[in-house]
Amino acid sequence: MKIVVIQGPNLNMLGHRETNIYGPMKLEEIHTQMEAVAKENGTEIEFFQSNLEGEIVDKIQEALGDADGIVINPAAYSHTSIAIRDAIAAVGLPTVEVHISNIYRREEFRANSMTAPACTGIISGFGPFGYHLGMISLLQILGEMEAMKRAQEEQAKTQSN
Ligand code: DQA
Repeated sequence: MKIVVIQGPNLNMLGHRETNIYGPMKLEEIHTQMEAVAKENGTEIEFFQSNLEGEIVDKIQEALGDADGIVINPAAYSHTSIAIRDAIAAVGLPTVEVHISNIYRREEFRANSMTAPACTGIISGFGPFGYHLGMISLLQILGEMEAMKRAQEEQAKTQSN
């Protein structure tokens, strides 16, 4: 099993950026914690951060055939990017959108996520812990999909006998 974690613009500034909103944790620290959880679950994990919309679209497309699911914080692009939304919809992989802050209790323009409707689910407002929640939710979904696939294979086998 492999998960790709995609981080959008300015998330490389975590720990320095508006710490009253995003807290003091650096992106590398969040990733170190996620790596430990991935290891416990026997899951491969890859991290990617970019400030560029097109690079994020490329990374989502690359996940097809390479990964089983995506955890993404499109950051400011959540509110503007049809291209990222379309890429998530195009690959069709289970995808969890994470926001450190609660986007619904901030400025009005943040209350609309353009990308969220293409995702399986969204986690918002739990601080950096949201990445942990996003990851275990994704692992749960992938586990259920795997169990469903196995059950269908079993059923097909019994029917062909
Ligand atoms: C964010 C919320 C966005 O509105 C903002 O542009 C970000 C971070 C969050 O994680 O809370 O850059 O996605």
